[in-house]
Amino acid sequence: MTGPTDLPLPEPARAPRPVTATTAAAGGPQPAPSVPSAPLTVAVVGGGQLARMMAPAAAELGVSLRVLVEDPASSAAQVATDAPVGTAGDEAAIRDLVAPSDGRPAASVLTFEHEHVPNALLRDLGDHGVPVRPGPDALVQAQDKIVMRRRLSALGAPCPRWAALPADPAAARTALAEFLAAAPDGTAVVKTSRGGYDGKGVRVVSAPDDVADWFDTVVAGGPELLVEEKVPFVRELAALVARRPSGEVRTWPVVESIQRDGVCAEVIAPAPGLDPETDARAREIAVSVAEGLNVTGVLAVELFETRGADGRPEIWVNELAMRPHNSGHWTIDGAVTSQFDQHLRAVLDLPLGDTSARAPWTVMANVLGSRLEALTDALPEVLARFGEARVNLYGKGIRPGRKLGHVNVSGDDLDEVRRRALAAAALLRGDTVPSETVPAPTTHQEHA
Ligand SMILES: Nc1ncnc2c1ncn2[C@@H]1O[C@H](COP(=O)(O)OP(=O)(O)OP(=O)(O)O)[C@@H](O)[C@H]1O
Ligand SMILES: [Mg+2]
Repeated sequence: MTGPTDLPLPEPARAPRPVTATTAAAGGPQPAPSVPSAPLTVAVVGGGQLARMMAPAAAELGVSLRVLVEDPASSAAQVATDAPVGTAGDEAAIRDLVAPSDGRPAASVLTFEHEHVPNALLRDLGDHGVPVRPGPDALVQAQDKIVMRRRLSALGAPCPRWAALPADPAAARTALAEFLAAAPDGTAVVKTSRGGYDGKGVRVVSAPDDVADWFDTVVAGGPELLVEEKVPFVRELAALVARRPSGEVRTWPVVESIQRDGVCAEVIAPAPGLDPETDARAREIAVSVAEGLNVTGVLAVELFETRGADGRPEIWVNELAMRPHNSGHWTIDGAVTSQFDQHLRAVLDLPLGDTSARAPWTVMANVLGSRLEALTDALPEVLARFGEARVNLYGKGIRPGRKLGHVNVSGDDLDEVRRRALAAAALLRGDTVPSETVPAPTTHQEHA
């Protein structure tokens, strides 16, 4: 009998020989080029923080990212090595993004970090064999809130009462007045159908005059308007799902998203106290929308939670985003697979990753505006006081209320996790945070 030590050992791995002038001149075998011949390349339209956060995920997967940025100093351009400049409406720039004229490899797929991309061009690229994910037929549902409401209603997704307002100002006034008359509290929410973000393009109204300026904009060729019932929600939730072309879908735990001044300020994962039935229902809605609209990539479904007449929770769809979403930033540090990693997998039609949470709680706090000259000025204090916090700064210029970064904190005690995430974000905004208001975390090491 031979013992295990008698087994022949494999040859030790040899480090590849560096290419030097001497080895080349020696006439030995020519080394393989150090650049892979056909790397997977994902082309992304949009140079904001969402494209920026795809970069680390792409690097880990060995995928090349090519990002069309509006400005060479934009958030994504600072981290992407391949970042041609052009707008989302620049047809030549988008064609060159997917099939560069300078001999760089063609992109494996075209995807987006925002939805404001001309649909006709995407359709044409798709017709010429470029994988566009999500496809234009899906994307239009996230570009236009009237198209979205129509389609969601047809799919049977729960929507608040809504109506498209006519383009003619007099007819729009009459329609809005009738809608308001039927509202229990005489108020409603008017939205621009296209181009809105971060609450811009959303107005609570109690009379047609409240949107007189928007009626004029429509006449001048601006986006159409819709009106929605003002939903008496107890809180806002978001369900995030990823779907790949071959049909595989994965949902993350449903989260609570807290808005301030119409902008997402904080996300708690999972949504505290969410009953399992509502969690399952929200995920089901997200999957049925992803399947019904043939979405590929990440889809975020923003939801309202209300109480029914019997006191039981009910959910309603607010809107859709067909890309990684602010409500999913917690997944970077709080889930096994982040939404950015998953989006790349999904658009490349690769197997999707585990979406379970890594900790009982993760809180994401946005940094919205700052009094500092540079957010990095706060790093010495933030990093010293919040060693467990995962700080993510987007490299953007400071403007009031602008999304400049976020902080993720995970742990076992929700109150503590939340306090610390908010305090770290407050320091990055330039606020003073006395140490007694945020005690040091109780970690497992301290108890050991
Ligand atoms: N029908 C509604 N009833 C009550 N509140 C609403 C309604 N629609 C929107 N809101 C409030 O306004 C916020 C912004 O609305 P919405 O999500 O439609 O706009 P947006 O600007 O496209 O969003 P985002 O900030 O996600 O880009 C919602 O998160 C919610 O707080
Ligand atoms: Mg929204």
